[in-house]
Amino acid sequence: MATKWGIFSAGKISNDFVVALQTLPAQDHQIVGLAARDFNRAKEFAQSHGILKVYNSYEELASDPDIDVIYIGAIHPVHKNLGLMCMEKGKNVLCEKPLAMNLAEVKELISAARNHNVFLMEAFWSRFFPVYEQIRSLLNQKALGEVKVVQAEFGVNLLHIPRAVDKELGGGALLDIGCYCVQFALMAFSGEKPESITARGYLHETGVDETVTIILQYSGKRQAILTSTLVTQMPNRAVICGTKGMVQIPSFMWSPTTIIVNGEETKYPLPPTTKHLNFWNSTGLSYEAEHVRQCLLKGLKESPVMSLAESELLASIMEEVHIQLGIYKNKT
Ligand SMILES: NC(=O)c1ccc[n+]([C@@H]2O[C@H](COP(=O)([O-])OP(=O)(O)OC[C@H]3O[C@@H](n4cnc5c(N)ncnc54)[C@H](OP(=O)(O)O)[C@@H]3O)[C@@H](O)[C@H]2O)c1
Repeated sequence: MATKWGIFSAGKISNDFVVALQTLPAQDHQIVGLAARDFNRAKEFAQSHGILKVYNSYEELASDPDIDVIYIGAIHPVHKNLGLMCMEKGKNVLCEKPLAMNLAEVKELISAARNHNVFLMEAFWSRFFPVYEQIRSLLNQKALGEVKVVQAEFGVNLLHIPRAVDKELGGGALLDIGCYCVQFALMAFSGEKPESITARGYLHETGVDETVTIILQYSGKRQAILTSTLVTQMPNRAVICGTKGMVQIPSFMWSPTTIIVNGEETKYPLPPTTKHLNFWNSTGLSYEAEHVRQCLLKGLKESPVMSLAESELLASIMEEVHIQLGIYKNKT
C-alpha cells in the first residue's frame, strides 16, 4: 500500500519535496493533498504539481483520516506549533530542519511524539543519500579506525534572502545551513555528546550569525571543526579522518553525489527529473521520503538513522553556540 502524504506549505522546499516524491513509484508514495496559509496559493501550487486535493487550512489537512504522514515545509519558527498540532491529531510528521527554533521547542516536539505515539523525524535529507549510507557503513565496520578529526563547511551567499537574516523568521547561518555541518559531525562521532563546544563568529547587522566556526571536542583528543557562512560561497566539503583512513565529500556535503574513500572516488547519480527545483540535488529528497515509508511500514516511532536523541543533542549544541555568539542570552 502507498504511503499517503499530506504537504504543509506551498514554499520553495515543498516544491522540491513534491518533485522528489513524484520520482518514486506511485504504488509506494501518494500525495493526497496540500495546505498552505493562503488557499489560492495552495491551489496554484497543487495544480502545477497535479495534486488533487487542497485544504482550507493546515488543521483541515491534519484532520484528514486518509493521510498517514505530514511533511512540514514551512519556515522553522512555525515548526513547533504545526508539529504539535499534527501530532495531537495523531499524525506522523516529517518536519524540515531545524526541527524547531531552540532546545526547549525541540524537547516539546519530542515529548509530544512520545505522548501521542506517532513517528517524528527532523528532515535531515543528507543522512539518506547513498554517500552518507556508505560513510555509516565504513564507520560501523571501523574501516577508518578511530575517528580523530572531522571537518565540514556550508557557505553560500544568502544575504539577499530576507528570511535568512531575519531573526524572527529563524535567520542566521547556523539555523539555516550550519546545522548540516553539526549533524555531519554527530554522525561521524556516532551521536556522542561532545565534551566541549567553542564557537567564534560574526553577527549580521540584524543580530543573526552571518559566519560561525564551531569546534566540538571529544574525549581522546578527537574534534570537529565546522564552518558556515551566509556571506560567501565555500567549497562546501566534508571530511572524516581516522587512524586508518579518510573519507571525503568533495561537494555539496549536504546533498552529495560523490564520495572519496582513501583516494578512490565513487559517484552516485541522482534520480532524474525535468521539473523545476529550487535547491541543488533536490531529487535526493526522495531517499529521505523512502526512509520514512520504511520506518512507517515497520511501525517505528522514530528513525534509527536520524534519531530524536540526535535532534535533541543537535539543538543543545546550536543553543550553546547561539549563547556564545551573543545571539541569545540564556538557555531555553
Ligand atoms: N532540506 C533542504 O534542502 C532545505 C532547503 C531549504 C529550506 N529548508 C528548510 O525548509 C523550511 C522552509 O524553507 P523554504 O526555503 O522553503 O522557505 P520559504 O519558501 O521562504 O517558506 C516556506 C513556507 O513557510 C511559510 N511561511 C513563510 N513565511 C512565513 C511567516 N512569516 N509566518 C508563517 N509562515 C510562513 C509559508 O507557508 P505557506 O505556503 O503555507 O504560506 C511558506 O510557503 C525552513 O525551515 C528551511 O530551513 C530545507
